[in-house]
Amino acid sequence: MVWENGCVVIVMLTPLVEGGLKQCYHYWPDEGSNLYHIYEVRKHIWCDDFLVRSFYLKNMQTNETRTVTQFHFLTWLNHNVPESSRTLLDFRR
Ligand SMILES: *[C@@H]1O[C@H](CO)[C@@H](O)[C@H](O)[C@H]1NC(C)=O
Repeated sequence: MVWENGCVVIVMLTPLVEGGLKQCYHYWPDEGSNLYHIYEVRKHIWCDDFLVRSFYLKNMQTNETRTVTQFHFLTWLNHNVPESSRTLLDFRR
């Protein structure tokens, strides 16, 4: 269904289990990949070199909310260069 419809975002409004009852199938892998028929589901692996965070901001005066995504490159040390350009190119992608 995701593939056929070209979905790029999945919004999940339920916990996996609620009140002891299963609400949603855990279709994404904790590690590695899961295979469903001809489709492989692989969790995006963020490497040791960077991570991505999402912040939820709220203006307490106006109640306006915004989501900001932070891309944090971890292994570019001060007075140094990354070991290879590959990690920077992956980061940019
Ligand atoms: C913001 O939300 C609070 C709590 O719901 C409310 O009391 C307040 O009037 C709201 N402020 C504005 C500017 O909408």
